[in-house]
Amino acid sequence: MSDQAATDSEDLNRAEIDAALTGSPFAGRMHWFRTIDSTNTHALEEARLGAPHGSFYVADEQMAGRGRSDHSWHSGVGEGLYLSVLLRPDMAAADLVWLPLLTGLAVHRAIREVTALTTDLRWPNDVLIESRKVAGILVEAQSESGRATAAVVGIGVNLHQRSFPAGLSTPATSLDLESGRWVSRQQLLLAVLLALHDELAVLDAARDRDAALAAIPGRIAEASTWVKGRRVNVHGPQPCSGVTEGLDARGFLLVRTTDGVVTVMTGGIRKAID
Ligand code: BTN
Repeated sequence: MSDQAATDSEDLNRAEIDAALTGSPFAGRMHWFRTIDSTNTHALEEARLGAPHGSFYVADEQMAGRGRSDHSWHSGVGEGLYLSVLLRPDMAAADLVWLPLLTGLAVHRAIREVTALTTDLRWPNDVLIESRKVAGILVEAQSESGRATAAVVGIGVNLHQRSFPAGLSTPATSLDLESGRWVSRQQLLLAVLLALHDELAVLDAARDRDAALAAIPGRIAEASTWVKGRRVNVHGPQPCSGVTEGLDARGFLLVRTTDGVVTVMTGGIRKAID
């Protein structure tokens, strides 16, 4: 069922959402689906068809929710926030690497505002509570001649789950389980969008955009126990093991291994088993 449906989801009130988003690029741009394959796939298609900056896509259920590294993102009906935001950032394609990190900061802040819980950012874009994953971010971008033309910021947050499938690569949790109360999807949606808007506005307003970008690694380090002094295994195209030494000026992770410092550009990290 598409966003043309007469009735919105029970827990999302379009009028309230539009009112709360007034003054942001997201006002009046919600597309809601009772069920969809993947909000990211749909948003990418809409981007190709010319949908404007700030369009966002929310589903109650995804039949083929996608995570990073070809993982699936289990998206049971009404269990989580499944959100994709279409941005048309005025950005060099090379700077798109900052978007997952900025989104992580936005999700970290939104969860704190709505639940008072403090999350931990595991580079590049997992959001954890202690060692359990509560949210994930998947940014997929399109670019032309070295400039970004569109970026789809996909955000999945576990809200109401009480149990999870066995065999997940990282144990999972939900905001309900962690906070001990029912967490409103609408409140979280609004908090995430407004925090994302603030993050992007800082970049847009900065006279010196490079200085604004240069501040991000330090902000991530404050919100993360992973980026400095953690013994990790790196998986992906640059597998190695070592101790994290912070993010470099481009947002890449530095890992001190027995062979020297490796600059990890993509992939992910897990706690090393000693
Ligand atoms: C990850 O941790 O690997 C990223 C998970 C991203 C999941 C979200 S849910 C909304 C959007 N639609 C998708 O298919 N994926 C993202």
